[in-house]
Formats: sequence, structure tokens, C-alpha cells
Amino acid sequence: MLQRILELRKALNDHNYRYYVLNDPAISDYDYDRMMRELQDLEAAYPQYDDPNSPSHRVGSDLSGEFATVAHRYPMLSLSNTYSLEELHEFCDRVTREVGPTEYVCELKFDGTAISVTYENGRLVRAVTRGDGSTGDDVTANVRTIRSIPLELRGNDYPSFFEIRGEILMPRASFNRLNAEREEAGESPFANPRNAAAGTLKQQSSAVVARRGLDNFMYYLVGDELPYTSHWESLRKAKEWGFKISEHMKLCRSIDAIDDYIRMVDKLRETLPYDTDGVVIKVNDYVLQRKLGYTAKSPRWAVAYKFKAEQALTRLNSVDFQVGRTGAITPVANLDPVQLAGTTVKRASLHNAEQIALLDIRLHDMVYVEKGGEIIPKIVGVELSRRPADSVPFEYITHCPECGTLLVKYEGEAKHYCPNQSHCPPQILGRIIHFIARRAMDIEGLGEETVALLYQQGLIRDIADLYDLTAVQLAPLPRLGDKSAENIVKSIRRSTEIPFPRVLFALGIRFVGETTAKNLAVHFGSLDAMMAASREELLAADEVGEKIADSIVQYLADEENQRIVARLREAGVQFSGRKREGLSESLEGKTFVISGTFARHSRDQLKELIELHGGKNLAAVSSNTDFLLAGANMGPAKLAKAQKLGVEIIDEERFLTMIGEGNASRPTSVAEQENNPVQGSLF
Ligand code: IVH
Repeated sequence: MLQRILELRKALNDHNYRYYVLNDPAISDYDYDRMMRELQDLEAAYPQYDDPNSPSHRVGSDLSGEFATVAHRYPMLSLSNTYSLEELHEFCDRVTREVGPTEYVCELKFDGTAISVTYENGRLVRAVTRGDGSTGDDVTANVRTIRSIPLELRGNDYPSFFEIRGEILMPRASFNRLNAEREEAGESPFANPRNAAAGTLKQQSSAVVARRGLDNFMYYLVGDELPYTSHWESLRKAKEWGFKISEHMKLCRSIDAIDDYIRMVDKLRETLPYDTDGVVIKVNDYVLQRKLGYTAKSPRWAVAYKFKAEQALTRLNSVDFQVGRTGAITPVANLDPVQLAGTTVKRASLHNAEQIALLDIRLHDMVYVEKGGEIIPKIVGVELSRRPADSVPFEYITHCPECGTLLVKYEGEAKHYCPNQSHCPPQILGRIIHFIARRAMDIEGLGEETVALLYQQGLIRDIADLYDLTAVQLAPLPRLGDKSAENIVKSIRRSTEIPFPRVLFALGIRFVGETTAKNLAVHFGSLDAMMAASREELLAADEVGEKIADSIVQYLADEENQRIVARLREAGVQFSGRKREGLSESLEGKTFVISGTFARHSRDQLKELIELHGGKNLAAVSSNTDFLLAGANMGPAKLAKAQKLGVEIIDEERFLTMIGEGNASRPTSVAEQENNPVQGSLF
């Protein structure tokens, strides 16, 4: 059995490498998952063969506690920085003076967070953050989840002991996804991918880290007796062992070549999927590196040339205060329009009261605006020489600009909050808009404007009021009419079939995003069970920490919320779903591709049903597809491919029969499923 386990580990490591490092997968996700499942089953059955480096542990666990502090065997120095080509040329001149003309390796300067990873006999043993340079945090469990970092090395010509250093980064796509999720859950978004990468690496739960899509590039090999003569050679070797090494490195033999490289990167960086903030220039030859030596803080054989973020100087005219769904106050600057990095900037983020005080930003100041990794430009400084003589320090608001309530500050939060959750209009509107969103209750036809209008006209005051709306009330509203009004009412009715986990997410409890809602629903099975649970019992659910538990307790204890939930319940909204044990497994092991549009369910609902019944959704038709679930207007290419590969093509009715819901003349309501134990569950 051990042999099969080792075989699977090796194969999965190889596939990981192809997928995450080479970007060239050799097998389908489905086959990969099947092998992983087999390995996990075997490891569970034979715990004596467990290995912390098994690829099965990449999914992470919840067990990592506080981080241990570890001394770096080799200090993690920083690089001397410059923003000026002149200074860079001076660096090259100095190197030439001291060791003669030489070769440089030019590299991207990745804008993430540094990591040092130790390998012993080809196996990852420890990963430590930079910390203060001499000691750092042991984040091994988290780093093991980053798939571009090998757990076991390829080949056999690696030194038996070495450290390799590089940057952990969060690609912009992962960053945008993460921030969207955080905002949906009422959490403050990360300011930029660098902060997100560093914050994620310090997460207590490696399962959370595993989901966030971190990536890595390595750029520095360290060891006592490395059998290589140059940096370039070391990194070439490291690449062979399975590390992800940037393909944008270049060997340069002259200052002109370095200048060309910098110009090339300045263009290239816009197209890269991750942030870079400059280039690093390193003397290639190890003998010369040793000759040049180190200062207390940085090597004398390397320098970082950093790109300046584009800045513009403009006048700050006024400050607006926006109130979000959770009551968080965001100050936004109104500026004289100014050109910056190809766009006209009129507004910029001021973050919070502390930031304004720190920079001593005042009304009518001339301020510097910068566009960094952030999407919204920010104010980074004041031109004091142009400050009006009569200027006075900025006074932050003390009361909510929308409802007049005294603002509060919570411990550990930089922002002010309006605590008047139940009666502050933008908070109410924000909650309603969150509730009807596609990923929540999926109520179609009601845009933000219509919701605002309904609110102004006194037709809705909270999410429960939606269920009392009639077509007669809606039809006279601008841009609606009878047909749209009826469709909206239908869509609201249909939302009573939305399964409990999504309802829980839709309620908009602070910090309860989609994943947390699912975890809670699986753990408790119903809102009643959650209401009966103590704070400690809430903490027992997957990935629920103190902040989330407190927020749930607070939400459920609020009488207004209890009234809203009671009314939603009366309207038929789902507040329970079976726990994981109740899973129907009628589609166990079957794979589906969905294409086209369907009469009785949306595509998302069908996908959910497939998963609920143990099946798996695939994005594209391949020889691993069991069924093509075909709706109206599906692409002919997909159909042809399915026919060619002999994939079984089924329609919606046939699918519903497979899961025991067939032959109904109208959509089966979730409530009915609930009452019929034979017919599967909500999960
Ligand atoms: S080499 C002793 N190479 O920049 C030299 N660092 O300011 C070790 N960084 O802490 C660093 N890209 O986090 C090196 N290609 C690169 C880099 C790089 C980004 C970061 C790294 C380091 C910081 C120094």
C-alpha cells in the first residue's frame, strides 16, 4: 500500500508542477481530483504513512496556532534602493572600480512579501517570513499550500541543505476576487496585492490561505557550499528542481543593456498579472559578490531600481463621507480634475481620519495624488509651500452625514462607523441591494435605482418588505410597467426556494461571506440551531473565529433582526437545510458540463443541484465528461464535441429525473424537498 501512496504522491507532485509552474497541465482537473481523493483515502486508512509533505496537505488545515519565531540562519538583508538612473550608473561604476567590468543579472522586483524556504534532502522543511531580518515567523503550514512552491524537489543534483528566497505574491485577479468577497462580507478590503499577500501569509488557518490563490517567484539561493559559480547558474538549477523562476531575467554586460532592460520592464509590467515595482540588478559572479561584500543592511553587489508611481498635484476642494452597508465611513476627496497615468482624476480616497491627521491634509490644500497598485487614486502628501494662509486643520465629522447618529470607533478598526444599522438609509439600502444580488437571493429586475425609489416612496424599509410588494405597486414606477412588475414579483416569490446557505449569506451579517455562510449552514443545519448556539458553539464551525462569532451573536440578538427573520420565514424563505450527513449521492462520481438556457432552473441552480447530489461540474467537454446537460441555444461546437466523444446528452427533465425530481409540471419547491426525505437535500 505504501508503494501506491508514494506513486500517487509523486504523480500528484508532477502534475502540480506542470500545472502551477509550467502552466501546462497534462491531465484534467477531474483526473487530478480523483488521484487526490485516492491518496487522501489511503492516507486516512494508513495513518502510519502520513507525511507533512504529502501533496494532500496542500489543501491546508485549521490547526496552525500562533506562529513560532525562528532565527534566520543567514540574515535576510534588504536591498539599497534608488529611483534615479544616475545613482544606478554610480553603482555600476563603483562595482567596476572595485572588481573590474562584469556581468549583471537583471530581474523584476516583485511587489509582494519575502519568504525564505529551507530544503533538506530535497524536501521542504521550513518557511519563514523576513520578520526583522534576523528572526521571522514560521509560516511553513501556510507556505505548503502555495502550489508553485515545490514540497519535494525534482531531479537529484540539489545540495542536501539550502535555503531559497523569493517573493510571495497575490496575482491581481486573486486580489480583486478576494476584495470583492471581503466587501460582500462587510470586511474592509486590502489596500493592494502586497498587503493582501502579507496578510494572507499570516492567516491562522492554512485552509483560508489555500483558497486565496497566492503565487511565488524565487530569486535567491543561499547555502554554505553551493556548487555553483554564479547567481544565474543557481537560478537555472533551481528552475530544474521545480521552483518557479521568472522568465523575465536577463544577463547584461553593460550599463546600456541595463537601461534597455529597465525600459523594457517599464512597458512589460502593465501586462503582467501581478505587481512589480522596479528591477533588481545583481552582480552575477559569486567570487565577485564575495569580494564586494555587505554593509550592515544590504549586499554591496546588488541594487534595486524602483519605478516612481505617477503623481499629480491638484487642489482639494471638498470631502464627501460615504456610508457603506455596514455603516463604515469612507472619506472621499473631491479634486480639481487632473491628468494622471492616462486618466482624469477627480476623486481620491482619503482612507480614514487617522490618515488625514497624519498627513495634515486640509481643505483647499494643493495635494499630491498617486496611482499605485490601488484602483482608486490616493492622496499621498501636501505641498505645504502652497498652503493658503488662512488654512485650518481638518475637522473629521463626528456624526453620520446621512442620519445624524454619533459615530463610533471599534477596537482595531481604522474607520469610523455609524452604529444606527436599522434606520440609517444607505445602510438599509446597501443591505437590500446585497440581499437581492445574484449570488444571494438572485431577485431579477430590481436594480439599485428601483430599490432606492421603492425606499423613498416608503414601500420597502427592510428586506422582509420585499415579500409584501405587489405588481400593482411596482408597475407605475419609471421604466417598469405591468410586465416587468409581474416578473419582479415572480422573481421575489421564486427566491423563497433559494437554499439556506445562500439565505444566510444574503442576510448580510457582518463578516459572514459566502464561504462562512456555507460552513455555518453545514455545521448547524438551520438558523434556529444557530440562534440556540452559544458563542463557543459558533466558534466550533469551520473557519469561524471570534470576530465572526461575535458578529453573529450580535446580529441574532437584535430584536429588529429577529422581527425581519420572522417575517422572511412567514414569506417562505428557507431557514434550514440538511446538514452534510443528509447528502443524496445519486450523482456520485458523475461529471457534467452545462450549456445553454433552461426552462425550470438557472444554470447556477443546476450546478448547485449537481453538487448537492454528489456530482461534479466541469467547464469544458472532454473524454472525462459523463453528461452534457443541454439547454436551449447551446453552442454547436460543444454539441459536436460531445457527440464525437460519445458523451451522453441529456435535457433538463431527464436530469431532474436522475435526481428524483422529474415529471413535475412546475418547479419543485425547496420546501417540498425538505419534507420528502427521499428527495435529496439542500446541499
Ligand atoms: S534579492 C540580499 N531579488 O525586495 C538580496 N529581492 O528591498 C535579497 N524583492 O526583501 C533580495 N524582487 O522582498 C531580490 N528579484 C528580487 C526581488 C527582491 C523583490 C524584494 C525582497 C526584498 C526586497 C528588498
